[in-house]
Amino acid sequence: MSSGTAKSEQLVLVIDFGAQYAQLIARRVREARVYSEIVSHTISSQEVKDLAPAAIILSGGPKSVRVDGAPMLDEEIYNLGIPILGICYGAQLMALQLGGEVSRFDQGEYGRTQLTVTPATQLLDANVGEQSVWMSHFDCITKVPEGFEATASTPNAPVAMLENKQRNLWAAQFHPEVVHTPGGQELLCRFLHDLAGCDPTWTPGSVIDDSIAAITAQVGDRRAICGLSGGVDSAVAAALVHKAIGSRLTCIYVDTGLMRSGESDQVVETFEKHQGIELIHVQAADRFFAGLAGVTDPEEKRKIIGELFIRVFEEASGGIADADYLVQGTLYPDVIESGTADAAKIKSHHNVGGLPDDLSFDLVEPLRNLFKDEVRRVGSELGLPDEIVWRQPFPGPGLGVRIIGEVTPDKVATLQDADLIVREEIAAAGLERELWQAFAVLPDIKSVGVMGDERTYAHPIIIRAVNSDDVMTADWARLPYDLLEKMSSRIINEVTDINRVAYDITSKPPGTIEWE
Ligand code: XMP
Repeated sequence: MSSGTAKSEQLVLVIDFGAQYAQLIARRVREARVYSEIVSHTISSQEVKDLAPAAIILSGGPKSVRVDGAPMLDEEIYNLGIPILGICYGAQLMALQLGGEVSRFDQGEYGRTQLTVTPATQLLDANVGEQSVWMSHFDCITKVPEGFEATASTPNAPVAMLENKQRNLWAAQFHPEVVHTPGGQELLCRFLHDLAGCDPTWTPGSVIDDSIAAITAQVGDRRAICGLSGGVDSAVAAALVHKAIGSRLTCIYVDTGLMRSGESDQVVETFEKHQGIELIHVQAADRFFAGLAGVTDPEEKRKIIGELFIRVFEEASGGIADADYLVQGTLYPDVIESGTADAAKIKSHHNVGGLPDDLSFDLVEPLRNLFKDEVRRVGSELGLPDEIVWRQPFPGPGLGVRIIGEVTPDKVATLQDADLIVREEIAAAGLERELWQAFAVLPDIKSVGVMGDERTYAHPIIIRAVNSDDVMTADWARLPYDLLEKMSSRIINEVTDINRVAYDITSKPPGTIEWE
């Protein structure tokens, strides 16, 4: 259901039938400057009425509409007079539920195919002739419902688009939301702006005023605390809450000793000096190093860091009287995914957002309707510096999961120096915003080398740089050789006790992004 934040904007509901692409549809709608939210296909027509969306999009889905147990839509929704666009499964479902037929074809259609459009449709420009679209289906609409017209076909889909202008119902068998359908965004814009009458006025910044009003109403005259990790999500959440309740927000920054070079200074500088936010800076490095002494197992390390973090945070927050609210930088993908995916645990992630519920605070989550890139834009509009807004993701356990084997202050210092060189050179090459992450790893091995005329026996540094859209998969970045060489020679010359540099060319899967 809608997350219920006050919104003065028109809303587009993306009804999810289990699609891989529901989030992508929601993003594309927002790129068309109309606010969108994803809801489950179990939504009732009364609930839709209450939300009063300006338009509805039915997503694709993995099932066949013809099998028992296939997700259906409350048919009353078609009668509410709200413009609807069905995509793939959504198109077939609309056809089936309104009296058409869907059958299994001999041949499915997967990937790029050519679409022939009739001049009659307003959804696409028929003048361009044949156009490339992305298909992924084995069922086909074989009979259009009464009152509908087929307006496009492909070699294996006689009905690739259909519409009922009077009822403002539209459907496409292909996927307009993916980049492989070049005219896809135009189709969505035509549907949203021309056919559904949505105004293209929404921007991520539009949420700022509504969020401030909602936070003010929620927190009233009480106090809120926010754990800062130095990352963009908690930073933007804190900046928003600070705009709403001013000095009644206190931020807590736990310095675990496992942060990157310069990170703690930057957090203090940004929040205390520039934003004027009250900040409790807890120096807890000694406790973390003591807790980690002698520990080499990755999961045990993560557990120790996570638990210590909570304990230190509790101690710091316990001193703040009247603090009833905890600010979290939860994002929209976390909201959508929580509870749905039953994926196997690969690593036990720990971050500031992972503080346990029994800390006995009510949650304030001002970013729960935003995607990551939208959060960055809000952060910029709130005046946060680029170094915070464009910061790469950094794991909650920090450098602790980039040091293989026991974590010691010396190893952290070595890794901080090497990591800084990697980041400096990536920035100098102008690749900072292109890469998902780029960092250094310190493995627990030594190798023989020669420097000057001396034999060396020292640790290597491994450079890891990846591209990713969604973190679930990632590819190793094809960094220029010259850049790799520059990083390698600087690391060996400037970082003590390193005599070799390797580049990690493993994608995810089979590797993960971090080494532990
Ligand atoms: P992996 O290594 O699982 O990482 O491919 C995926 C993304 O998550 C980040 N990461 C974490 N983030 N707490 C976090 O907040 C964690 O415990 C954690 N472990 C990994 C990692 O940097 C990458 O962006």
